[in-house]
Amino acid sequence: MVYYVRQGRMPRTRHTYESRNKLLREELFGEESFDGSYSLLYHRNEPTRIKSIREARKDEPKFETLKLHKMIDTDIQKRQGNFINGRKPLFGNETLHILILKPSSRTSDLFRHGIRDQLFFVHRGDGKFKTIMGELPFGEGDYIYVPKGTIYNLEHSEDAEFLLIESRDNISVPQRYLNRYGQIKEGVPYYSRDFRHPVLRRGREVKKNCEVYVDFDDRYVVETRDDSPFDLEGWDGYHFPFAINIRDIMPIVGKVHQPPPVHETFSSKSFMVGTFLPRKYDFHERAIPISYYHSNVDTDEFLYYASGNFMSRKGIREGSITIHVRGMIHGPQPGTVEKSLGKEETDETGIMVESYERLGISEEGKRLENKNYMKTWYE
Ligand SMILES: [Fe+2]
Repeated sequence: MVYYVRQGRMPRTRHTYESRNKLLREELFGEESFDGSYSLLYHRNEPTRIKSIREARKDEPKFETLKLHKMIDTDIQKRQGNFINGRKPLFGNETLHILILKPSSRTSDLFRHGIRDQLFFVHRGDGKFKTIMGELPFGEGDYIYVPKGTIYNLEHSEDAEFLLIESRDNISVPQRYLNRYGQIKEGVPYYSRDFRHPVLRRGREVKKNCEVYVDFDDRYVVETRDDSPFDLEGWDGYHFPFAINIRDIMPIVGKVHQPPPVHETFSSKSFMVGTFLPRKYDFHERAIPISYYHSNVDTDEFLYYASGNFMSRKGIREGSITIHVRGMIHGPQPGTVEKSLGKEETDETGIMVESYERLGISEEGKRLENKNYMKTWYE
């Protein structure tokens, strides 16, 4: 993250102690070995203390590489599992998994993704991310970033629905949004003040005996601990879960149509995440407000339709997903350009993921497929 947070109690100087009788256990929690962003966490107990360990089964998703444009309807997807085992990828590749998480039950088990950053988009519902670094309440329209290695429990309302992106590559604020001091620049759709981080409260509930499910893609490793990992006296640094609501993201508009990169929200080495928001359309007197035809030969374009009326697409409803693959042209469907002329604004909200590596579809994704999609440009 791009700002510094300090919470709770810690020694005045890093890597030192204050009281020999009450030693705090310092953990460096970071990414990219010792070169990326990091925080220093001060535990009361030894964080390495694990009473026993076992493996639990996990089905590793298999993807069939996409060669044609696809559309699926996730509103027909049933609720399943909890926030740990209800995650069934619909699209992805080795680096990236994309899924809709609609848990049917809650669990008090703790979770940590061993190898993937997680980025949640809250489509419906609310709740709290209870992380070892503190609590992060959330509501509809929030993006929540959870760095790999964060131990947490997700407390959510019964109607909760998330779009979830899980990535082996780190997810962050785009580098081009930062000045040379690391501050978010002017002209960017959001500012540091719009982000929320977990708040560490004293006297929070500490569950003595607990299990932590650690995801390694092909299996869970389950740690049984007799000391709670929720034992921080304090932490400081730049690496922590955070949230931002789409209401606080300010879309960039232009005199003529603006290309998708102006809507970029987060970036990663092999993909970017963008947000199409309700906005005024282009103000040139003869502007065509919807997208032009395009063939992006280096990306597969995923789009999740969260709410509103999507002008350039027919047959789309809330919860629909389209993927437009590289190597094929795509664009507005017949009649939609004519319909858009003279329109002044849109109320759409859509989440885009542009993947620079090829995307595949899982068996779960195929079950939700709307098979007529390729024909919608010839009607
Ligand atoms: Fe596109």
